[in-house]
Amino acid sequence: MSVEAEGAGAQKSGPERHGKRGRAVEMAGAEVRVVHTYDDIEEYDNELPNWWLYTLFGTMVFALGYFFWYEVLRAGPSQQQSYEASRVEDRRRDAERARRLGAMNDDGLRTLSHDAATVEQGRTLYVQNCVACHRADGGGLIGPNLTDNQWIHGGEPLRVFRTVSEGVVAKGMPAWGAQLGPDRTMSVVAYLLTLRNTNVAGGKAAQGEVYAGN
Ligand code: HEC
Repeated sequence: MSVEAEGAGAQKSGPERHGKRGRAVEMAGAEVRVVHTYDDIEEYDNELPNWWLYTLFGTMVFALGYFFWYEVLRAGPSQQQSYEASRVEDRRRDAERARRLGAMNDDGLRTLSHDAATVEQGRTLYVQNCVACHRADGGGLIGPNLTDNQWIHGGEPLRVFRTVSEGVVAKGMPAWGAQLGPDRTMSVVAYLLTLRNTNVAGGKAAQGEVYAGN
């Protein structure tokens, strides 16, 4: 006899064979316990299928491993860390796009100033080329203080770019555009944008007009 036929047969004779609650009965060759009956609907206490149990145990093992990896060993990144990483990645991509579009505008330069890699390149260029006159921390020496909110030649990002690129040769500020090229000039300006309003200690007195924007 096929399994279906056997099952169907057992079902047919079901009501007579296990009417009362909690009685052990025989069905299709396996023992079935009826734990609850209501309106002739019977609830059986069957064994859980293995695939189900293995899935359950699998999730437990996974949860333990997950807990140890992230909470005890802290080997994986925390939510905060992955968030920060994705922010860094977003900013890098924005900066890349800004560069591709030329970034020769205020917003493009601001975007670059939020990208860690660009700012780091700018800092390196600043250390190599600018510290002699603007001091290592931007506080100013021969050249003006770059960490205040006042600008002789304008504080809009594009104005700063123009000043650095074309220089103020008559006043002793070299033109950097030809030497650094537009890409690296943008990086050094991006770095300058991170310096302003930091007002380092012992900096030169502010000169020029206040620029309140960012
Ligand atoms: C040889 C000295 C010297 C070097 C090197 C130098 N600067 Fe200057 N910089 C000056 C002087 C002097 C001024 C002021 C010009 C003026 O009074 O108009 C100035 C002005 C500036 C300004 C305008 C500030 C304002 O208030 O508007 C910026 C921006 C600037 N420099 C950035 C840089 C950067 C970036 C570098 C390096 C790539 C650099 N400078 C290297 C001497 C220098």
